[in-house]
Amino acid sequence: MAITREELIKKYLDFFKSKGHKVIPSASLVPANDPTVLFTTAGMHPLVPFLMGQRHPLGNRVVNVQKCIRTGDIDDVGDDFHLTFFEMLGNWSLGDYFKKEGINYTFEFLTKKLKIPVENLAVSVFEGDKNVPKDTESEKIWKSLGIKQERIAYLPKKNNWWEHPGNNTPCGPCTEIFYWVGKGKPKGNPKINEKEWAEIGNDVLMEFTKVSPEKYIPSKQKNIDFGGGCERTLAILNDMRSVYETSTFQPIMRVIEKISDRKNLTNNTSARIIADHIKASIFIIGDGISPANIERGYVLRRLIRRAIRHGYLLGIKENFTAKLVDSILEVYQDYKELKQNKNKIIAELDKEENRFRQTLESGMHEFDKIIKSKKRISGKDAFLLYQSYGFPIEMTQELAKENKIKLDLKEFEQENKKHQELSRTASAGAFKSGLADQSEKTIRLHTATHLLNEALRRVLGDEVRQRGSNITPERLRFDFNFPRKLTDEEIKKVENLVNEKINNALPVTREEIKLKEAVKSGAQAEFGAKYPDVVSVYSIDDFSKEICTGPHVKNTEEIGKFKIIKEESSAAGIRRIKAVVE
Ligand code: ALA
Repeated sequence: MAITREELIKKYLDFFKSKGHKVIPSASLVPANDPTVLFTTAGMHPLVPFLMGQRHPLGNRVVNVQKCIRTGDIDDVGDDFHLTFFEMLGNWSLGDYFKKEGINYTFEFLTKKLKIPVENLAVSVFEGDKNVPKDTESEKIWKSLGIKQERIAYLPKKNNWWEHPGNNTPCGPCTEIFYWVGKGKPKGNPKINEKEWAEIGNDVLMEFTKVSPEKYIPSKQKNIDFGGGCERTLAILNDMRSVYETSTFQPIMRVIEKISDRKNLTNNTSARIIADHIKASIFIIGDGISPANIERGYVLRRLIRRAIRHGYLLGIKENFTAKLVDSILEVYQDYKELKQNKNKIIAELDKEENRFRQTLESGMHEFDKIIKSKKRISGKDAFLLYQSYGFPIEMTQELAKENKIKLDLKEFEQENKKHQELSRTASAGAFKSGLADQSEKTIRLHTATHLLNEALRRVLGDEVRQRGSNITPERLRFDFNFPRKLTDEEIKKVENLVNEKINNALPVTREEIKLKEAVKSGAQAEFGAKYPDVVSVYSIDDFSKEICTGPHVKNTEEIGKFKIIKEESSAAGIRRIKAVVE
């Protein structure tokens, strides 16, 4: 009997609940306060403050299933195991158990609960470098559990070290678990037979803090950060060749087959790319992003347009992306934001497809013309394809590769710089709450954001609500609903009120209370955010009260002088303020 996604998730959560873990919700794919990453790439992102020592309201053992986007893997999508959207089974010890229990729990779950034969498993451990010694402790623990010496790969930092792109974040060596997907009996280990061992989980042994790239210091608190791939685990449990055979993809494949009037597309690269990319796009739109030419909107546009081109390769002549929505929502019924935003998701997909379909065919003719007459695609050609035909540069690169022709990326970048239009970002990852960069400056700006939020409400009216926030070490950015431009006088009033509260040296305090009570007491909550049953609430004397994971300064006098540097429109009915502290 095949095991479904729902059954696997239940087994996972139940197992860790039985080991004293509390379930926390999946965070948004979009970070609120983290300038270093575009999307949530792992369950640990929203937990940074707690991995750094702040007490979690639900205790020091938590577990969840987190939706993740990894655009770093985009070029590998189409093979059997890589995806841009996946669900991560995550469990954490926040300064509680460490290596021994962590590895034991992982092993017990895989071999006892899921009944994966130990003969089919292999592991990797950190081989050590000039800063951190070889991880002989994990090696010993794995051996004591029955993993044979020949199944242990010793790997360098490149493979066996996990860290977040932001500074002042937790990190450490990791020990990964692999499953044999090769032909015949298992042999070797992930170092020798790299392709035949598929990674299914990763125990990060967090004992360091990354102060800056290349500078690591031992952390006060040691944590375990486990992440396992839901789709991969499902595939191996069901003895399937790829993630596309699992219940998380089959209904979508059926719709692609119907639309393209073709059979058996599960192993077809274009169909796989369409299924993965449109699934990722639906989740991204569900978290409030629309296609655009910068940042997250650009990643979304790139995913949708690549899927459309692969639809074109399958011979699909009409709009099809929105037709996949029902089958994807059917699989992911537990994500309420998808259902709530279904109309918007369909409208955005259709709009983007209408836009791109107008130019795709003529753009393809232009591309064919270029490669017929030239030995290489110049930066100017690539820019023409981008600007006049809407081809994301990565798509032209993919086309060039398929046609075995070179593309001058450098010249394209120069050309593009001239137009200052496209801001291309390759990375992915995100936060709902908690700052990735926990430097003293961002923490001061974070508390200033709370003061600003309340000051706006006092000056402009109670209906003002936070609609977004982004903090870098240089400045804060705050979006809120308000129908018109602020007057100079209003801006001055807001600025003065924030500075008054800073000068009053008000204490900043934190309490943990039930979500219901927090909302009842008037604590501000972010529009559309999901919160656990027990939340932390930060109060600035009796001036401001917000649900937030922090961290914050202890007293407002630490903030310094607050200055608004810009007030502008961000979207219809939404204003944006940029401010600094000096
Ligand atoms: N954060 C770890 C990973 O993503 C578990 O591999």
